[in-house]
Amino acid sequence: MRVTIFGTGYVGLVTGTCLADVGHDVVCVDIDEGKVAALQRGEIPIFEPGLAPMVRSNHAAGRLDFTTDAAAAIARGEVIFIAVGTPPGEDGSADLQYVLAVARTIGRHLDRPGIVVNKSTVPVGTADRVRETIAGELQARGVDVTFGVASNPEFLKEGDAVNDFMRPDRIVIGASDAHVIERLKRLYAPFNRNHERIVVMDVRSAELTKYAANAMLATKISFMNEMANIAERVGADIEMVRQGIGSDPRIGWHFIYPGAGYGGSCFPKDVQALARTAQQVGYRAELLQAVEGVNERQKHHLFELIRRHYDGDIAGRTFAVWGLAFKPNTDDMREASSRVLLQQLWDAGARVRAYDPEARRETQRIFGERDDLVLCDSANAALVDADALVVVTEWKQFRSPDFARLRATLSDAVLFDGRNIYHPDEVEAAGIAYYGIGRGRSVQA
Ligand code: UDX
Repeated sequence: MRVTIFGTGYVGLVTGTCLADVGHDVVCVDIDEGKVAALQRGEIPIFEPGLAPMVRSNHAAGRLDFTTDAAAAIARGEVIFIAVGTPPGEDGSADLQYVLAVARTIGRHLDRPGIVVNKSTVPVGTADRVRETIAGELQARGVDVTFGVASNPEFLKEGDAVNDFMRPDRIVIGASDAHVIERLKRLYAPFNRNHERIVVMDVRSAELTKYAANAMLATKISFMNEMANIAERVGADIEMVRQGIGSDPRIGWHFIYPGAGYGGSCFPKDVQALARTAQQVGYRAELLQAVEGVNERQKHHLFELIRRHYDGDIAGRTFAVWGLAFKPNTDDMREASSRVLLQQLWDAGARVRAYDPEARRETQRIFGERDDLVLCDSANAALVDADALVVVTEWKQFRSPDFARLRATLSDAVLFDGRNIYHPDEVEAAGIAYYGIGRGRSVQA
């Protein structure tokens, strides 16, 4: 099938590339000429495992193209995806200006029947606004073509997005028109393995499904962080508690890892936007507000442990920080807990020597040059002249360090483990003081 995708950001690029990989004929549109030219050369603006070679091979095979020519792209696509950003507005609700701008563009150029599919995460009711916007433009041009609007939310995880797209748990299609449903089922048929993964529903339910999924996952994390904070105070170890509850299939092992708070482009934004939507329809979403509040507090927790250990005497000290990205296998720093920690350390007069396998450039872009930040080339280099080590992101390469070497290098011999990746016994056996999240013993020590 011929597919047009608006937006070559994270979602648009992964969607376009994976659809091309199963044989569809895809063109991705972006207004950024530099980005389009780079993509044509096979240069990928984001770090996502497995994506770059797939972009190159599908581009070489003639199934995946990039353009700034919206009119031509609209003319050829049977299915037109909207996959542009919905950044949070000042009040936390999703800003729809980019989505609606694409809708206007489609309305200005569409001259034969088409299917418009919204993949951006948008508040319930947006598909109707997209439909009205396109219809308004068509009417202004005096053009009478039929078009359908569907909602097809994505559930991609950064760092595993290609895999998530190629092997989805479910494919949610929100549409009411039988023809639209039939065409989208056909589009996704290559991904529908073993058992039925396509769930068809009305547009509004599909729009809400995306928010419900992310809010549920964020809730699990905030719940565990709350348990961790209780565990810390009652002298329990949340890691034992986690193992004690995860085996219950009703609870499950996923997303029950306590830590320095959740970040990324989805959870913080989507929880807030959903709370805002609820408010707009006269419902006070108390649970969602608490999920958000617990997470905000949790982002300050590592600094709290540091402050407590040093009894507030932090000025002039140097902290090695391992991991800056909001999670491993990405260079994404959006809403990353590390940003809150770094700012708090600097405000307290400390210096930071940081290492992240991928997020160095992003960190530099965000914070610029500063005397109290040294971005290092390796985990060991970050330890040089450091007083203490703080782990913020659980990259695999941080998981089994040489503790004897850490002991010899860190002048204060203390480790703050923001993701509970170490065993306290092992760290303490090496003569290093250990602080984790929700591990009561370290607080008593
Ligand atoms: C998430 C959803 O998982 C995905 O389905 C949706 O489409 C977009 O949002 P992503 O933001 O890429 O994906 O990251 P994810 O792996 O879900 O992690 C989000 C954050 O939660 C990270 O900061 C991570 O460190 C944190 N997290 C995750 C925890 O603190 N504890 C956990 O148990 C799991």
